Amino acid sequence: MADLPLNTGFSGVPPVSADLLSVLPSSADIFDQLADALAAEGYAVMPDALPPALAADLLLRVTRFDDDQFRSAGVGRQGDYLLNPFVRSDEIHWLSDADGAERQYLDWMEQLRGALNQRLFLGLFDYEAHFARYQPGAFYKKHLDAFKGRSNRVLSTVFYLNPGWLEADGGQLLIYGDSDEVVDRVNPLMGTLVVFLSDKVPHEVLAARRNRFSIAGWFRVNNSLNQHLDPPR
Ligand code: OGA
Ligand code: MN
Repeated sequence: MADLPLNTGFSGVPPVSADLLSVLPSSADIFDQLADALAAEGYAVMPDALPPALAADLLLRVTRFDDDQFRSAGVGRQGDYLLNPFVRSDEIHWLSDADGAERQYLDWMEQLRGALNQRLFLGLFDYEAHFARYQPGAFYKKHLDAFKGRSNRVLSTVFYLNPGWLEADGGQLLIYGDSDEVVDRVNPLMGTLVVFLSDKVPHEVLAARRNRFSIAGWFRVNNSLNQHLDPPR
């Protein structure tokens, strides 16, 4: 017994105080707040929505892609996919389960999907997402992500990956209201998540003055009829 080391309470992990734990919002709180804002306004803007370590991993991932791992983003649905550099000039890379950080992001969105279905009965069926890179000068003109009855995209998400973004860096997301007025102007700051109704909220990305990284994604409903699979596999 005498040889047992003294228990100093040291385990290599610094203790987390109860105070700190109580101010870190749980994901259930975050899902509640997102659902409430969506129901009230049709959109939600939430700083520090995802775990900071995951945001850091995603930023590392997107900044390590070579140019040939991006492709120019198109406009329209799969069928009438069009490259139009006058509408948008970002470049994209689709997320998949094959990478650990991407998988964690998709898992978090899967949690959000379940939470929003429970709270708002949206019947969201699946989720797709891509990284986007806006190089200096790149923009995305005012648009809707979906047109009623012509798309199965119901809810859009944008998650930003830009530490220390300043107003002067441009690249703000403008959110428009019913009478075409700007109702919100969002800096694409690391950790901020925006969620909005895809067919109801016009929005625009102002030209960025430095590299601007984000993950855009869409929750979709299942419109499959008979043998016609939509979304396509
Ligand atoms: C989009 C989009 C907004 C943003 O990809 O459809 O509107 O802030 N992105 O990156
Ligand atoms: Mn959009």
